[in-house]
Amino acid sequence: MPWWSPLAVIVILAACKHEPPVGPLVEEPGNGGGGGGVEPPDEVVVCDANTVWFQQQIQPLLTSNCTMGDGCHSSATDDNDGIDLTSYAALMNSGVVQDGDLWEAINDNDPDDRMPRPPQTPLTQEQIDLIGQWIQQGAQNNSCEPSACDTLNVTYTGTIRPVVQARCQGCHSGATPQGGLDLSSWSVLNAVAADGRLAGAIQHLPSFEPMPRNAPRMNDCRISQFLIWIDAGAPNN
Ligand code: HEC
Repeated sequence: MPWWSPLAVIVILAACKHEPPVGPLVEEPGNGGGGGGVEPPDEVVVCDANTVWFQQQIQPLLTSNCTMGDGCHSSATDDNDGIDLTSYAALMNSGVVQDGDLWEAINDNDPDDRMPRPPQTPLTQEQIDLIGQWIQQGAQNNSCEPSACDTLNVTYTGTIRPVVQARCQGCHSGATPQGGLDLSSWSVLNAVAADGRLAGAIQHLPSFEPMPRNAPRMNDCRISQFLIWIDAGAPNN
């Protein structure tokens, strides 16, 4: 029985302490049904809010909170418990989605056993729910394109902060934020916006550190939204 059959997933989820409500598994057409090492489909799929998208929503969370660049759960370190979360193929090869360990680890009640480990800040309930929903939907390697880019209503709380939470704060928050920058604080983000480092880093301009680190450049829509917000003085709106 393949692990992604509905029965196997129900058994996995039933074994967990905080099971997400069990839903039907969605087989995305064209990407082989969720096996390891499958490339995302080539055709453009427009994002929709009912599906959790691995490439846009889950991998950035794992990169920011679990691989920490070349540390923790990447192949570049020996101290990763054999768990490499730097790509879909590596994630599936490590088996932690299939055996329920990933779900268990991010929900552990004991802060010392919970992932990510202290002093890293734990995932928010929203981020945990997103991962649960992705598992329920069949843990696919899926990818989508935004249908339209909203550059008119760009605000800190509505546009910028959610992206920073998902893509940056795994490294840039907690007791020892990387680069010395705690980007969960608006005033720190405002300061790197004002001194030009934010715009330089996200556009991967020469002489800046390309951000998010060890991840592809954010899409053009995201970057224009950041630049619009920076040009407006990076307000706390
Ligand atoms: C995987 C970890 C990681 C992620 C994710 C990450 N950063 Fe960084 N960031 C770092 C590290 C480490 C440094 C310090 C780099 C150095 O100085 O060598 C840094 C430095 C920076 C700097 C200073 C750049 C410079 O050239 O001085 C900015 C600005 C920044 N990050 C913004 C961001 C933003 C915005 C995001 C999300 C879109 C992000 N970072 C995601 C690890 C990360």
